[in-house]
Amino acid sequence: MSVPQAARERARALREEIEAHNYRYYVLDEPSVPDAEYDRLLRELETLEAQHPGLLTPDSPTQRVGAAPQRGFDKVQHQVPMLSLANAFDAHEVREFDRRVREGTGLEQVEYLAEPKFDGLAISLRYERGLFAGAATRGDGRTGEDVSANVRTIRQVPLRLRGEGWPATLVVRGEVYMRLADFAARDGRRLAAGGKVFVNPRNAAAGALRQLDPAITATRPLRLFCYGFGEGGEALPDAQPQILDLFRDWGFPVCPEIDVVHGAEGCLQYYKRMAGRRAELPYAVDGVVYKVTSRRRQRQLGTVARAPRWALAHKFPAEEAVTRVEGLGVNIGRTGAVTPVARLETVFVGGAHVTNATLHNEDEVQRKDVRVGDSVVVRRAGDVIPEVVRVLPERRPADAQPFRMPVACPVCGSHIVRLEGEAVARCSGGLYCPAQRKGALMHFAQRRAMNIDGLGEKLIEQLIERDLVHTPADLYALDVTALAGLERMAERSAHNLADALERSKSATLARFIYALGMPHVGEATAATLAAHFGALEPLRRADAEALAQVPDVGPVVAAAIREFFDEAHNGDVIEALIAAGVHWPEARAPSGPRPLEGRTAVITGTFSRPRDELRDALQHLGARVTGSVSRKTDFVAVGDNPGSKADKAAQFGIRILDETALHALLEGELDLDA
Ligand code: IVH
Repeated sequence: MSVPQAARERARALREEIEAHNYRYYVLDEPSVPDAEYDRLLRELETLEAQHPGLLTPDSPTQRVGAAPQRGFDKVQHQVPMLSLANAFDAHEVREFDRRVREGTGLEQVEYLAEPKFDGLAISLRYERGLFAGAATRGDGRTGEDVSANVRTIRQVPLRLRGEGWPATLVVRGEVYMRLADFAARDGRRLAAGGKVFVNPRNAAAGALRQLDPAITATRPLRLFCYGFGEGGEALPDAQPQILDLFRDWGFPVCPEIDVVHGAEGCLQYYKRMAGRRAELPYAVDGVVYKVTSRRRQRQLGTVARAPRWALAHKFPAEEAVTRVEGLGVNIGRTGAVTPVARLETVFVGGAHVTNATLHNEDEVQRKDVRVGDSVVVRRAGDVIPEVVRVLPERRPADAQPFRMPVACPVCGSHIVRLEGEAVARCSGGLYCPAQRKGALMHFAQRRAMNIDGLGEKLIEQLIERDLVHTPADLYALDVTALAGLERMAERSAHNLADALERSKSATLARFIYALGMPHVGEATAATLAAHFGALEPLRRADAEALAQVPDVGPVVAAAIREFFDEAHNGDVIEALIAAGVHWPEARAPSGPRPLEGRTAVITGTFSRPRDELRDALQHLGARVTGSVSRKTDFVAVGDNPGSKADKAAQFGIRILDETALHALLEGELDLDA
C-alpha cells in the first residue's frame, strides 16, 4: 500500500521535531516545549503511523515501547569485553596507581579523565549505520543479556544518531541509573500500592531493566550516562575527552561532572570536590573513576586480569552498613518532640563512627518494626543524621520484643502526648522539662540567634542542674559572681561570658524572633516575619489569618505561632527579656525601600564581614536568602574559597556578585536590572 507523499513528509517532520525535543530534554537537560506540546506531537505521529503502516520505521520515536513481553533474555557475546575496575580506598593507593602509570608510560605527569562512578548498571549499546541495533547488560563481561526491548524505552538512548562521522558499527557503553528524586517518588508509590519496595535506586534500575515486559520498563524513569565504547572504537580519536565530545554531538548523554586532571594530586582534588558534592548530586555516586586520557597510552599499559591498568575506581566510604541494635530509647528535642533512637553497636559508615541512629517517629518504628537485638542497615549520607533504614528479619533473635513508645517523658516524667494528625509525639513538660530547657537555651544562645559567645552545651547543663536558669530570660540575671561559681569557670571566663551576655542584648528583631524557638519558625521564616511586621507587638497580636498572609507562612506555621504567643508563660519570658534590656533597632517601616523584594539570593565563600551580617542586610532590603542554588536563584554573592554553590551558579548561568559588587548593591549603587 503506498503512502501519500504529504503523510510521508509530515511523519518525517514530526520525527525530526520530536527527536530534537528529546535531545534538548534528555541530553542537554533544557526542555524546549511543555510536556503537553510534546505529547501532542507524539500522538499526531502515532495516528499518522496507524493510518499508514508503511510509514513505520524501527527508529521512530513512537517505537520506544511496543515489543511484546519476553520469556527470558537471549545471550549476547561482547566482541570487546566489558572490563571491570580496580578499586582504591585511600590516597596512598591512588598515588601508587599513578606511579605505576608513570612507570609504564615513561611520562612525568599523566593526564587523566576524572569521572563520577555512577551507582547504576553497565550497559552496552550497539549502533549499525547510525541506528540503534540492540543493547546488552555486562553479564560476566564476555556474555551479557539482550535487553534491547527494554533499553529502547529509555528516552535518553538515541534510536538514531545525530550529526555525522560515526563509524558504521559503533558500540557505546555507559551506565543506566535512576535519579534519586525519581526513585524516592517511585518508592513511595510502590509502597502505597503495597508492592515490592526497592532498597535503592540501583536496585530499582536493575529491576526495571530486567523486566520481561518492556511496557513496564517504559514507565520507569531510567536514565543514561555514556563513558566508554567497544567495537568501532578504532575509528575514534586518541583523546578520551574528544571522544566524549563526539558522543555528545551524536546524541548520547555525557555527565557534565567529567573533568580532565593532572597527576595523582589532580585526581585527589577531584575526589575531594566530588565527595563534597555527593549529597547534592541528583543521582547516586559511589566514588570517582580516573582514566588515562590517551588511548595510545592505555594500550601501552594494557590489562591485568579483567581490569585495565590505565583506570582506577576511587571509592567513597560506604553510606550504608549493617550493625546490631543494642537498645531503643527516645530523645527529647527543644520543642518537646520525642524522637525514637536506636543505640547501636558502633559501626563505621559514611566516613564516621556511628553509635546512635534516628528512627524519626513512632510510626516509622512501627513500620520498620525495629527491635532490640535486630541486625539493621544503618545509613549516613553526608552531614545527614544517621538513620536506621531497615531490619534484616532473617537475623532477628527469637525473643526480640516490639518497641513501645514511652507514655512518660524519660527526662521529666511529664505525659507524652501525640495530637491527632501529628506524626510527632511531644513531652508536655515545656520548660519544666530539663531536656527542653536545655534545647531551648542552646537554641537561644547560638550564633545565629542571640549569639552568646562562650555559652555552650556543658555550661547550660550545669546551669540547669544547679537550678540557676529556667528560661532564657534567667540568663540575663547571672552576674560574674554566679558565673564564677560554676565548675571549670575561671574568673576571666566568667567576665568574658558576662560581657557576651551584655553584648547579646543588642539584637535584631529577626534574630530575637528566631531565638524564641517557636515550632516551625526557622531563620528564614523569622526574617520574613520581622520584615513583614516591622516590630514585635504587631506580630504578637496578629491572628492566624493575618499570619497566614505572610509569604512562606502556611496555616500550620500560622497556628503554631499563634499558639506560642497564646501561652501566657511565653509572654512572661518575652516581657522578662525586654525588661532585662534585650532590644533591637526599630525596624525600618515596612513601607521603607525594599529594592530587593522578590529576589532570591545565595551567599557562599568568605567575606570581610560575617556572612550573617550580609544576609541580614540583604533581607533588610527585601531579598530572600536561601542556602542552596536553584534555577530560581536571582544572584549568588561569591566570596573567597567558595563552595560548589559558585560552580552551580555558573552552570545555571546565574548572576554572580563578588564582594565589591555586593557592597555596591547594599549601598544602593548597583541596580540589578540595569
Ligand atoms: S569505566 C574499563 N566509568 O563500574 C573501564 N565504569 O567496576 C570500564 N561504572 O561495570 C568501566 N561509573 O558499571 C567506568 N565513570 C565510569 C563508571 C563505571 C560506574 C561502573 C560500571 C562498570 C563498573 C566497573
